[in-house]
Amino acid sequence: MLELNDIKLSYGNTPILKGVNLSVKRGDVVSIIGPSGTGKTTLLRCINYLAKPTSGTIVLDDIRMDYQAVNKAAVQAIRLKTAMVFQQFNVFRNMTVLENVMDPLMVVQRKSKEEARAIAGQELERVGLGAKLDRYPSQLSGGQLQRTGIARALAVKPDVILFDEPTSSLDPELVGEVLKVIKEVTSSGITSLLVTHEMQFARSISSRIVFMDQGVVAAEGTPEAIFDNPSQPRLARFLNAEHV
Ligand SMILES: Nc1ncnc2c1ncn2[C@@H]1O[C@H](COP(=O)(O)OP(=O)(O)OP(=O)(O)O)[C@@H](O)[C@H]1O
Ligand SMILES: [Mg+2]
Repeated sequence: MLELNDIKLSYGNTPILKGVNLSVKRGDVVSIIGPSGTGKTTLLRCINYLAKPTSGTIVLDDIRMDYQAVNKAAVQAIRLKTAMVFQQFNVFRNMTVLENVMDPLMVVQRKSKEEARAIAGQELERVGLGAKLDRYPSQLSGGQLQRTGIARALAVKPDVILFDEPTSSLDPELVGEVLKVIKEVTSSGITSLLVTHEMQFARSISSRIVFMDQGVVAAEGTPEAIFDNPSQPRLARFLNAEHV
C-alpha cells in the first residue's frame, strides 16, 4: 500500500537520503533501525512531505507522486491518510488533553465539535487517559503526554501511522506504559512504521525490520533474520554496539 522508490534528499550539499527503497503492505508493522544521523527521521518526514526529497516517487494506495513534479493535491491527500507521533510529543500547551485530540478532527477533517469530542474521548479512553481529559500538558507526565500524542494520531483514523522514536525522550520508568499502548495500536491491524532504538520491542511487534545506514536501506528482513542472523557486517556491528 505504501511504496517509496529511489528517494534522494540533500541538505545543502550534503546528501542525506541516497536512494531509499521501501515497500510496505497493508497491516505491516515495519520498524526502522539504524545509527544516529543516518536519515531515519528524514525518511519518515518525506512521507508527509515535511522533508522534501529532490527525486524519487511515493505511492500510497491510489495516490502516486513524483517528487520532481510535486502536486499540492497529492501532498494533501497523502497527509490525510497518514499521522505522525513525534519524539517530543508535539502537544499544544494551551489546550487540554481532550482539545489536543479534537483539534485535527475539527481543523483538518472539519468535523463538528460534538463529533470530535466523541471520537477524541474514545481514543483517549483507548490509551488509558479517559480520566485526564481536562488536564493541561503541564499537569501530565511524559508518558501521558505521549499517549495523548498517540490518541491524536489515531483519532483521524489514518491508513498509516508513523512513529518517530516515540519513547526516546521519556524517563526510563515511563517507557513501558507507552510501549504497551504502541503494541496495542500496532496489533490492531493499522499499517505502522516505527523508528526506534528499542530493539527488543521492535523484534516483538514487527513483521519486518529495515536497517538504514548511510542514507540507504542497508538490510531488511524478518526480525529473526535481522537480529539472529545479521549477515551484513554493518548491521552486525550496529547490533553489537546497541548490545542486542
Ligand atoms: N532540517 C535540516 N537541515 C539540515 N540538516 C538536517 C536537517 N534535518 C536533518 N539534518 C541532518 O540530516 C542527517 C539525518 O538526520 P535524521 O534526523 O534523519 O537522522 P536519524 O537517523 O533520525 O538520527 P537519530 O537516530 O539521531 O534520530 C543528520 O546529519 C542531520 O544533522
Ligand atoms: Mg531521528
